[in-house]
Amino acid sequence: EGAKVYAMCQGCHQANGAGVPGAFPPLAKHVPAILTAPGGRAYLPLVVLGGLQGSIVVEGVAYNAPMPAFASLSDAQVAAVLNYVASSWGNAALLKDFKPYTAEEIRALRQPLTPQQVYTQRAKLGLK
Ligand code: HEM
Repeated sequence: EGAKVYAMCQGCHQANGAGVPGAFPPLAKHVPAILTAPGGRAYLPLVVLGGLQGSIVVEGVAYNAPMPAFASLSDAQVAAVLNYVASSWGNAALLKDFKPYTAEEIRALRQPLTPQQVYTQRAKLGLK
């Protein structure tokens, strides 16, 4: 299920999670960085549901293109795709204590945010 939902992401973030430097950030290594930042677990679903717009730097490379919102995904689909990206491309090894998201958790975290509002949330994480 997670792999199926990821088909909607991989045109930008690529099947191998490496992204496209300068255009679409990598999810390999970067998703563990988000999940291990304070507040990161609650923030990550907001990116999928609300999109993201604003200038970011990931592993020293700048990105500033909008990511579209996927608010029409079900709670179960959001959980599945996040569990997929958290466990793929070596990410599982960086997240030894990762507890998979459940649909119930996504339902509780879901908020109708604009991509700009998600960016405001991101600033609170203290991500580099
Ligand atoms: C950023 C996941 C679909 C373009 C991100 C980030 C994650 C992510 C985790 C990093 C957020 C951060 O560092 O704060 C996903 C997932 C997708 C998806 C799971 C599928 C459900 C897409 C698609 C596109 C895209 C289809 C292109 C049309 C971007 C861009 C950024 C980004 C441009 C950086 C935004 C900025 O610089 O503000 N995505 N993404 N994503 N994504 Fe996606």
